[in-house]
This record gives sequence, structure tokens and C-alpha cells, in this order.
Amino acid sequence: MLKNILLVGGAGYVGTVMTSHLLKKGYKVTVIDNFLYDNQFSIQPYVGDPDYRFVPGDINDEKALSEASKGITDVVLLAGLVGDPITKKYPIESEIINVNGIRNCIDFFNNKNLDKLVFISTCSNYGLIKEHELADESFPLNPLSLYAKAKVYNEQYLLNKKFKVDYTGVVLRFATAFGLSPRMRFDLSVSEFVRDVFFGKELLVYDELTWRPYCHVRDFARLLELVINAEKSKVDFEVFNAGGDVNNSTKKMIVDEILKHIPDGKITYGTNGSDPRNYKVSFKKIKNILGFEPQVTVQDGIRELIGGLKNGLYSDSMDDINKYGNFEINYTK
Ligand SMILES: NC(=O)c1ccc[n+]([C@@H]2O[C@H](COP(=O)([O-])OP(=O)(O)OC[C@H]3O[C@@H](n4cnc5c(N)ncnc54)[C@H](O)[C@@H]3O)[C@@H](O)[C@H]2O)c1
Repeated sequence: MLKNILLVGGAGYVGTVMTSHLLKKGYKVTVIDNFLYDNQFSIQPYVGDPDYRFVPGDINDEKALSEASKGITDVVLLAGLVGDPITKKYPIESEIINVNGIRNCIDFFNNKNLDKLVFISTCSNYGLIKEHELADESFPLNPLSLYAKAKVYNEQYLLNKKFKVDYTGVVLRFATAFGLSPRMRFDLSVSEFVRDVFFGKELLVYDELTWRPYCHVRDFARLLELVINAEKSKVDFEVFNAGGDVNNSTKKMIVDEILKHIPDGKITYGTNGSDPRNYKVSFKKIKNILGFEPQVTVQDGIRELIGGLKNGLYSDSMDDINKYGNFEINYTK
């Protein structure tokens, strides 16, 4: 049967790249999104494609969810207030969307005859770990922000549904994303650093030796296709760290790579920034079970973005901050 994949929150940074990938590979794609950041522009490339269907709506609105679920075979839960700062700024909306809305979806999509429901979580759940440690999927979770706390809550909510729902649930703990997207975000480390240095802004980097895993958005899209097509026995209510060992990097490693392209970039280092996260992650499980390894390195991503900026892309990104990141929401439930 031809798959029709519902991307819940599919008009965002990751979801639009998944849309491009899946349409190119011959799948049908349905998206439900409420354009929380007035990000309507991001679905423009797909509107009119006979294999693409967009349903405007909120994940707390069962009527909209019913409309979106017509004819679908699988669901990917991407929607949310994404990032620590935005959840700190809007704690009430964060509870409504990231906790209640996702939980609603986990319940709503039972008995809809679906194959898989994939919940996109985050490696931020590991929080702060010791320098020599490597977090695999069984490593204790230490969510430091409202954002990560909601992810941990809904991971557990979904995992408890094993044997109680008719779909195969899967949790993917995404590394921090980088790469170009129709809904570009410059509030993520790699892209923010590259853009600021490119436009000659002095870049202040806190805690430059802290580790974080990264993954290119196109690799996430390939991974999603792998998961959707995986044998049930390999992924059934499993949690996977999503990324690759090759892209575990410190902030300093990212800066050094940018300076290879822009040697006169202005960088200052500081200590005790507001974001204490430091985690190095093991991606062995996803490699061993699904054969997934990233094709794009952080170095490739930096080159790609500098190429885009040189071509004049995102020339308004220093001025139109809200268009390019998760800062201000437009939400009435
Ligand atoms: N970008 C990253 O670095 C990263 C890292 C780890 C995990 N993730 C996860 O990947 C997913 C996608 O992240 P992203 O970077 O594309 O974020 P994004 O903010 O660009 O996209 C989120 C989308 O969800 C939509 N949305 C928000 N609330 C909604 C609601 N109530 N109803 C319907 N739609 C709603 C927004 O309008 C937006 O289009 C998220 O679940 C995020 O937690 C992302």
C-alpha cells in the first residue's frame, strides 16, 4: 500500500525538509500545523502538489485531527514549542501544547488503523552528564528545561501504551539539527554561529568546551523513512538516539570550522552561560539496528550554509529575527 504520512507540526524547520524528502521518494504527505510562528511561507513549495495535503489546525482540536487523519498510514509527532528559551518564555502554552497536545495525539491516533506513530523527542533529555560519559538510550534522563521535561513525560506516556494501542510506537531522540530548510531556524547553534560570523557580528560563545550531538535535517528525513519502513520487531516501542557519533561536537569545534572559511571572524569566549547542557551521546543502537549513519557532517553543513549565505539566501535574517527562529508565538486556542 502506498504510504500517506501525517506530519503533525510539519510546517516547521524539520517537517518541511521531511516533506521534501518524502514527496521526492513517492510518498503521500499530509501536514497539520497551526503556524505558531506565522510560518505559512514554509509550505509554499508543496501547495499544489497532488501528493501533498495541508490541514490547518491545532493538535488540541480533535476535529482538525480527524480531518488530518483521513487516509493516513503513519504519524510523526513534530509539533511543539521547540527549544528551552521559548518554553521558558511561554510556560502556559508550553504545557498546553508540549504536554497536553502531544498526549492527546498519542491517545487520538489509537484505533485509526495506523502502522507507526513516531514521537520526535530530543537528546536534550540527557541534560548534563560527566565529561567522560557517553549517553546511550538507557542512560538516566536529566531534563533541565520545561522543553525537555515535557519530552520526557510524553516519551514515558507513549512507552506505557505498548500492548494498549494498535500502532507501533517509536521514540526518536533527535540530536540538535542543522542544515538548510524552507523554514530556516537561526536560533540553533551551528546556523546561528555561521550566520553571525558571516555577517561580521562579534560572536560570544559561552562554555565552548561543552559537547552536544548534531544532525543534518536531510539525514533526519532519511532516518524517518527508514523507521517508517522498518520491520515492527526492530522498532516496536523502542527509543533511539537519532544522529551519529561523527557529529558529536563542542562549540569550539564548530567555531574553529567556521573560522577556516571566515578567518577574520570575531569570536569571544565566556563562561557560565545560561545553558548548562553538556552531553555526548552514543548512536550505536540506531546504527546497529537500523543501519543509520549520517551522510552529512557538521563540517559539510557549515560549508553548505556559508554557500547559501554567499548566494544571498537569508539576507534579511539579522533583521527579521522572528521569521527565522522560535521567539514570538501567535497562539490562541
Ligand atoms: N530543531 C532541532 O534542533 C531539534 C532537536 C531535537 C528535537 N527536535 C524536535 O523536532 C521537532 C521539530 O522541530 P523543529 O525544529 O522543526 O521546530 P519548529 O518550531 O520549526 O516546528 C514546529 C512546528 O510545530 C507547529 N506547531 C506548534 N504548536 C502546534 C500546535 N499546537 N498545533 C499544530 N502545530 C503546532 C509550529 O507551527 C511549527 O510549524 C520538535 O518536536 C522538536 O522538539 C528538534
